[in-house]
Amino acid sequence: MKARTRILVIFGTRPEAIKLFPVVHALQADDRFECVVCVSAQHRQMLDQVLTITGIKPDHDLNVMQPDQTLDALTANLLTGLGKVMDEVKPDRIIVQGDTATAMAGALAAYYRKVPVDHVEAGLRSYNIYHPWPEEVNRKIIGAMASLHFAPTQTAAAALLKENAPPARVHVTGNTVIDALHWVTARIEAEPSLASGLAELEQRFVGKRIIGVTSHRRENFGGGMEGIAQAIREIALRPDVAVIFPVHLNPNVRKVMNESLGGLENVALIEPLDYPHFARLLNIAEIMLTDSGGVQEEAPALGKPVLVMRETTERPEGVEAGTAKLVGTDAAAIVTEISTLLDDTEAYEAMARAHNPFGDGRSSARIVELLANEIGHEA
Ligand code: UD1
Ligand code: UDP
Repeated sequence: MKARTRILVIFGTRPEAIKLFPVVHALQADDRFECVVCVSAQHRQMLDQVLTITGIKPDHDLNVMQPDQTLDALTANLLTGLGKVMDEVKPDRIIVQGDTATAMAGALAAYYRKVPVDHVEAGLRSYNIYHPWPEEVNRKIIGAMASLHFAPTQTAAAALLKENAPPARVHVTGNTVIDALHWVTARIEAEPSLASGLAELEQRFVGKRIIGVTSHRRENFGGGMEGIAQAIREIALRPDVAVIFPVHLNPNVRKVMNESLGGLENVALIEPLDYPHFARLLNIAEIMLTDSGGVQEEAPALGKPVLVMRETTERPEGVEAGTAKLVGTDAAAIVTEISTLLDDTEAYEAMARAHNPFGDGRSSARIVELLANEIGHEA
């Protein structure tokens, strides 16, 4: 019998964990593969929240996170740490997701060992190397080394082909975040208590219109974060509005938000939510205000208008479909856009259409079949 193909799946942050757990589950259920999981723990608590709910027990944990870590120290630690794991595990292939420092360093360490790199969520491009920063360059570096490119959409695939990726290596799979959302929705249906922790807050804000907020982008640190906080202060003056804001653990985010928004009656600054509770927030919110990548994909799938606090997006599909809008980080512009959605029913209805350009929930199954096909060709 042919030995199973050993695939090392590497991730380190919350969004990578959310987008890779469906792939890990699918690989673990498939006899053709031996799935080895290595977490860098670039994020600690926010990663562990995902591991706990999804039941994934990493085989290797580098525990690299440092408070307020710099990109260079983080990257150096990741590269040496992931290289050592690869020397021990000797994988046949590795999988990385997206554009984080962990994904970039993982791909580089594999390339140094001539181990094929398979890239989930390949081909996202904003065409601005400082927005998002440093993710735009991270994903281009991974793209230069990838063996198989799993593009979530046709737009992403077209970007890769324009950069001369071999067409036979580029596959449109959908985004695994929709698999994750389906999985967590089913889990909550089976066990509602998994997402019942917001009940007290929901009671406090009963009758109000909920705006869900997330923010963490490095390029928004400083002036951008100030603008976002100012906009929330202003919009929260409305008596009919309540803001629920699970604050990212990055100290650069927490300091500004705590100082500017702490203690406001209509604003709940809360700790990062685990995935079932965040799914609950997406459901109860009327509008999502975010600079997150993943939330731009999840909110349209649930028919929630999403205002994106960025100058550019590498996820144009939501904007093209009319369910997402780029609003930048200027306080006045954000307030105007939220007010329009709150006061103009037609404008709201035009955005609040369930739209799923990012996937159908079967992306991880496609990825596993493409991997099996690849191995078949190699054998
Ligand atoms: C990282 C990714 C970004 C991704 C984001 C998702 C890079 C360069 N950035 O950005 O692409 O969109 O994650 O959230 O890879 N912290 C904790 N506990 C945690 C997580 C973070 O305390 O569980 C704090 C630490 O002080 C840490 C800091 O946040 O040093 C920054 O974490 P880091 O992963 O470097 O950057 P993010 O801004 O989270
Ligand atoms: N998310 C979560 N809890 C929160 C905030 C976000 O589980 O308190 C999830 C969200 O559903 C999405 C992902 O985290 O799937 C987005 O992560 P983040 O915004 O940190 O990173 P990005 O997507 O911008 O890389």
